Amino acid sequence: MEAARRGGLSSGFVPTMGALHEGHRKLIQAARHECDWLAVSIFVNPTQFGPEEDFDTYPRDLDSDLAMCRQLGVDLVFQPGRDEVYPATHRTFVEVETVTSHLCGRFRPGHFRGVATVVLKLLNILQPDRAYFGEKDAQQTVVVRQLVKDLNLPVDIRQVPTVREFDGLAISSRNQHLGPQERRAATVLFRALKEIRTMVLQGARDAGRIRRRGLRLLSQEPLVEVEYLEMVDPETMQPISQVRGPARAAAAIRVGGVRLIDNLLCEDAGR
Ligand code: PAJ
Repeated sequence: MEAARRGGLSSGFVPTMGALHEGHRKLIQAARHECDWLAVSIFVNPTQFGPEEDFDTYPRDLDSDLAMCRQLGVDLVFQPGRDEVYPATHRTFVEVETVTSHLCGRFRPGHFRGVATVVLKLLNILQPDRAYFGEKDAQQTVVVRQLVKDLNLPVDIRQVPTVREFDGLAISSRNQHLGPQERRAATVLFRALKEIRTMVLQGARDAGRIRRRGLRLLSQEPLVEVEYLEMVDPETMQPISQVRGPARAAAAIRVGGVRLIDNLLCEDAGR
């Protein structure tokens, strides 16, 4: 990326854990559109998975990942080995406070410590002008933005809208682990978030009431177990009690053994 900068070219970077799908494609396309030189990383980062989580079964498909990168005109695919990123002598981890205290940060202890550490390392190695993240993991983008601000990193963080299946289910590498009945049940997540957004657009302000309505919808689906459903401030990721400006409805559910997350910005344009 240094060479790109020296030549006056702009450089972009899309960090991923591979098993690339249409959501990743959108990120890579956005980056390709805005940057002269583009890198994608593929690294299933062990430090962001808890001991009981799906690191071992996380989908991996390098051949098709490389084919997508080639097709989209990616200049560099950075695919480091585990020991390259975390040699036995590795001792430093990054902790981003407050914005990690709720939602996934609360239910996946250590997850954002792993994300922040690997993202910082990747940004330091590749030194891009811009890095691209998906709105599907909105808390992750907020964590990375906080990291970049607090540690004075010279990179512009861009967020790309969530790519969805025909029925609204946010595309995720983990969707492939859903059986047919679970796949059908999973659509309730986006329906609940849309219902919440409609309530806000129609003037609902009491976050408790809005949240209860969403939870009631989710509970109608017997295969679904709710981990969290919250209304949060989109900048701080802290739960709110009243909707006074833009709010984000964010949820995590389990369907069968599969954990799915999604979120929707609820913004009343007329306010
Ligand atoms: P991964 O889950 O592979 O996602 C890579 C990027 O793709 C993330 O920024 C994520 O938000 C985005 N993404 C995933 N599904 C999407 C969808 N349906 N629509 C839009 N964007 C989507 O997120 C990670 O990897 C890791 O935590 C990482 C940042 C690479 C650090 O290890």
